[in-house]
Amino acid sequence: MRVLGIESSCDETAAAVVEDGRRLWASEIASSAALQSAYGGVVPEVAAREHVAVVTAVVERALKTAGLDPTGIDAVAVTQGPGLLGALLIGVTAAKSLALALSLPVVGVHHLEAHLYANALEGPLEFPALALIVSGGHTMLLQWNGHGDLVALGETRDDAAGEAFDKGARILGLGYPGGPQIERAADGANASDDLRLPVARVGGYDFSFSGVKTAMRELYQRHPDRRDTVARALEQAVVTALVQTTLRAANDFGLRRIYLAGGVSANRRLRRELGQSAADQGIAVRVPRPAFCTDNGAMVAAAGYFRLLDGARLDAFEGPRVDWRLGVKPDERGED
Ligand code: KG4
Ligand code: ZN
Repeated sequence: MRVLGIESSCDETAAAVVEDGRRLWASEIASSAALQSAYGGVVPEVAAREHVAVVTAVVERALKTAGLDPTGIDAVAVTQGPGLLGALLIGVTAAKSLALALSLPVVGVHHLEAHLYANALEGPLEFPALALIVSGGHTMLLQWNGHGDLVALGETRDDAAGEAFDKGARILGLGYPGGPQIERAADGANASDDLRLPVARVGGYDFSFSGVKTAMRELYQRHPDRRDTVARALEQAVVTALVQTTLRAANDFGLRRIYLAGGVSANRRLRRELGQSAADQGIAVRVPRPAFCTDNGAMVAAAGYFRLLDGARLDAFEGPRVDWRLGVKPDERGED
């Protein structure tokens, strides 16, 4: 089954064709990040206008790259939420219109669940597993028992990991999005120069990243001439918090496999340190290729395939789900 996936929840307009949830035919993307960098963050109205301007062309490009005409696809999947209302609305409307015109089934997928399914493009998914999703708006740990079976174990109590990088980069005078800029600056820091930031400890499997951003601001005020070293301290503190809590959860729940996903999983230090620490304990870590860590249409098409197999469909009168939560809480299990 060839699924066309459409993503428009934030500042990327993306479309892709994926067969049977794993075989990639084409993945195209247009980003308004460069436009947004003038504002230092995503302006919802700017994002929505850009989606309107490019969505049709991006879908056409994906079909063209795949060498397919619209009759060559079997279903349409779209990010239904969470995200910016105006932005989501464009993708959902495009997907529904296309599906209606071509008499195809259409399914809405959860944006964070889609991030996890970027891993299906790298190899067969194996369950049960621990899932760490680190994006610009969310940081979540979940137990992933199978398709459609996610139990939320922990999340950030304030800023997301990507948000810490975005805000940190702004304080350091680096551009938007901040994650890649922080990584670049950190890589350029002098190896013999060292500065440290505290790693926040919160209860359970939750995270907190607003304190480290404040601590970084103070550190930078004291050392304005050591920007790259300050950036590396921020990167290290965020990565250490993610690695420590994730491995603790994996051990506590007896999970020997970790799926990493979301924009921040493109970060090389996170990939390296989580991979090494997990390997030391006999735990396998799977991560999507960097291009599929950040927002893309392929992950939406892959997730959509498994939702469609499950019988899910987007109702003709359904719209975006802006605050859609992912997974059930441990005490809600088995109560459906
Ligand atoms: O998943 P994503 O593309 O969009 C959301 O769903 O939010 O994630 C974007 C986030 C941004 O905060 C960005 O700064 C961060 O991912 N990011 C990175 C890297 N690339 C993107 N953070 C650290 N290192 C990177 N290489
Ligand atoms: Zn995302």
